[in-house]
Amino acid sequence: MATTAPPPLQVYSHSQERINLSDQQEEILRLKRDKNAVLLCHNYQVDPIQQVADYVGDSLGLARQAAETDAEIIVFCGVHFMAETAKILNPSKTVLLPDLDAGCSLSDSCPADQLAKYREENPDLYVVAYVNCSAAVKGLSDVICTSGNAVNIVNQIPADREILFVPDQNLGQWVIGQTGRKMRLWPGSCYAHVLFTKESIERCRLEYPEAPVVAHPECIQSVRDMADEVCSTEKMVSYCQSHSSDTFIILTESGMMHRLTRELPDKQFVAGPTGHCACNDCRYMKMNTLPKLLNCLQDGTPEITLTDELIKQAKLPIERMLDWSA
Ligand code: 13P
Ligand code: SF4
Repeated sequence: MATTAPPPLQVYSHSQERINLSDQQEEILRLKRDKNAVLLCHNYQVDPIQQVADYVGDSLGLARQAAETDAEIIVFCGVHFMAETAKILNPSKTVLLPDLDAGCSLSDSCPADQLAKYREENPDLYVVAYVNCSAAVKGLSDVICTSGNAVNIVNQIPADREILFVPDQNLGQWVIGQTGRKMRLWPGSCYAHVLFTKESIERCRLEYPEAPVVAHPECIQSVRDMADEVCSTEKMVSYCQSHSSDTFIILTESGMMHRLTRELPDKQFVAGPTGHCACNDCRYMKMNTLPKLLNCLQDGTPEITLTDELIKQAKLPIERMLDWSA
């Protein structure tokens, strides 16, 4: 039986062409000014959205920006749990998300009712929740972490407390390795990051043997073990900037390549292939589009709404995270 050849690798580098903003992008910039709105954008968003954002970053940076902004409206281009976090941290603001269906497989893997039941059966556990979870799960947790501060947060938990880490077993496993701390792991995972395999990355390394491999901690262990650096999307930028190499293999969602090539124009980035594709788009992150963003600014909808009670419950562990990682 004939085998199909793997698709060619995708290599991203800075384009020297001047960016001319489209009419839609110009209109988005005008509406932002007129309505006193700030556009917070995750590193995985499509390039045309990143180009008109006020801030592009990882979950931790976005949470900090949301907490501090004076703007009346926060337009959040990311996924639902990120926009919820913005609302929890700054509840007097209107928080808009261009597509309310932009969810997250990790968040879905830990339903609040299941966690509540587990907590009831194991009341002594200290629950650390990766920020990729619903507001209800945050409200059931003792402290939140992001990929950028998970090691630091776990290191600060009293040694006599047994930890349950939810919902990402891969990030949790990596944190165990970094901290030496035993933890119970919730069996969740990111459907996109687990698509990178040892074999798919080995193929990439054959073509770029000198390029450092930079992986997100949501990747599976055999992939993380091949990496020169395992880090959050924000740290990927500073790592590649300070490293002398001009080529890197990047194991995370494809939108990251836009941020990297924009900020590091002298370097090139090879998108880590999965078992069947040269790219790795998160289908949820890609639900936000420029036309949806424009509609959202024009109509002031869809809006994130949460009850005061839920905001109160979920705020405590998020603020604890911000205090601990100040
Ligand atoms: P970062 O906080 O590292 O940007 O990760 C967010 C995420 O959803 C990764 O899949
Ligand atoms: Fe969730 Fe994975 Fe998408 Fe990140 S890449 S938002 S963890 S599904």
